[in-house]
Amino acid sequence: MQMTDIIAKKRDGGELTREEIGYFITGYTRGDIPDYQASALLMAIVWRGMTRRETLDLTLAMMHSGETLDLSSITGVKADKHSTGGVGDKTSLALLPMVAAQGVRMAKMSGRGLGHTGGTIDKLESFPGFSCALTDEAFLSQVERIGLAIAGQTADLDPADKKLYALRDVTGTVSSIPLIVSSIMSKKLAAGADVIVLDVKCGDGAFMKTEEDARTLAAEMVEIGKMAGRRTVACITGMDQPLGRAVGNALEVKEAIALLSGSFGGDLLELCLTLGSCILTESGAAANDADAREKLERGIADGSALAKLAELVEAQGGDRRAVYDTSLLPSAPVTLEVPSPAGGYVSGIAAEHSGLVSMHLGGGRATKDSVIDLSVGFVLNKKTGDTVAPGESLATIHAHDEKSAAEAAASLSGCFSFSDTKPETPGIIRTIIR
Ligand code: URA
Repeated sequence: MQMTDIIAKKRDGGELTREEIGYFITGYTRGDIPDYQASALLMAIVWRGMTRRETLDLTLAMMHSGETLDLSSITGVKADKHSTGGVGDKTSLALLPMVAAQGVRMAKMSGRGLGHTGGTIDKLESFPGFSCALTDEAFLSQVERIGLAIAGQTADLDPADKKLYALRDVTGTVSSIPLIVSSIMSKKLAAGADVIVLDVKCGDGAFMKTEEDARTLAAEMVEIGKMAGRRTVACITGMDQPLGRAVGNALEVKEAIALLSGSFGGDLLELCLTLGSCILTESGAAANDADAREKLERGIADGSALAKLAELVEAQGGDRRAVYDTSLLPSAPVTLEVPSPAGGYVSGIAAEHSGLVSMHLGGGRATKDSVIDLSVGFVLNKKTGDTVAPGESLATIHAHDEKSAAEAAASLSGCFSFSDTKPETPGIIRTIIR
C-alpha cells in the first residue's frame, strides 16, 4: 500500500477502505508517514468528506492506536460525559457528583483549557493538593470505591489523536465533521464507558457557531457511538453567553459548590439536570426523565451530591474542607465592579470575547505552556434578558492587580449589548439526540 495512492484516492472523491485508513493511522502514529503526507490526506478529507463507514473505521483505528481502558472489573454501569467546550463551563464539577450520588459510576478523562475555554482539570486544581495524575489502577479502584474519578488523559490513550490534532491545528484542517467526530469519539471509546453523554455547544462561545452545525456534529457522534456498541446521547446546548455567572477557575468551583449546596440555579442547574437525566435513564438508574430529575434534585437537597464532591476531592489528594469552606480556595486580591454604560435590557454577552477577558486576566492559557492564575476571572451580575440601570454593576472582576482589573473591566463592558425591549432568550437546552 502507498500513502500517495491513498491521498490521491480521497482527493478524487473515493471511499477509503478500512485497510487504507488503518494503514494511515498506524503508520502516522509510529512516525513512518511524514506530516506532509498526513496533512495532504487531512485536507482531502476536509474537502471530500467521509462516509459514515469511513468515519467509523477512522474512529476505531484511532481508538486502537494506543491503550484502551478496560472498565469491566468495575461493578455496574459506567458513564462518561464530554463537552465540546465553552465559557464558564463548570458543568462536570457539579454534574459528576450529582450522578455518582445516585449510584451511577462516573469514569471521566478530562483535559486542560486552551484559549477562551477552560478545562475541568485546571478548575479542580483550585482545591489545594488535588491531582488528576492517576495511574490506570488508581483510577479503576477509585471508581469502584467511591463511584467517581476524574483523571487527565494519559499519553498512551489515543496517541493518533494527539499527533493528528496538533497537525490539524496548524494546517487549517480542524473544521471537518468526520475529523472532529473521530477525534472526540476515539478518545471517549478508548476511555471505556458503557454510556456516553455529549454536551455539544452552539453559539458565539462554542466550537460550533450555529445550531445546525452542532446538530450535524452531534447526530454523527451519536451514530458512531452506537455503532461502536455504546449507549450514546447528545444534548445540543446554547453557548451564546457564559454558562452560569462565574468565569475563572476557582470562581467556577465556588459556583459549582453553590449549585450542589442548593443555592445556585439558572441555566447551569437546568443543564446539569438535563445531562444528569440522560445519564441516569441510559444507565437504567431512573425509569424516565421525571424520575431522574427528582432523584438528582433530592441528592442536592439532602447533601449527598455535595458530600460526593468532598469524597472525590479527598480521594485525589485535595483538601475536602474547601468544599464546605470556600474561603480555603484561591481568591484574588483585587475586585472591581464593571458599571453599565447604558440602561434597559441586557440583550447579549459576547461569550468568546468574555472568555478571552478571563484568559487575559491570567485565568486561561494563550499557549499550551502558559501558567495560569486559578484565582482570577469575573462573576456576572447581569445576564441576557436582565434589566439594568446606567452605572449598575454588570459584573465583578477578580484580578491580581489594579491595572489588569481596569483593563478587564473595560473589555468586559464591551462584551455587553443593550436594548430597550426585552430580548428573546432561548433556553439553554436546544435539542436532545438519542
Ligand atoms: N475537540 C476535540 O477533541 N477534537 C476536535 O477535533 C475538535 C474538538
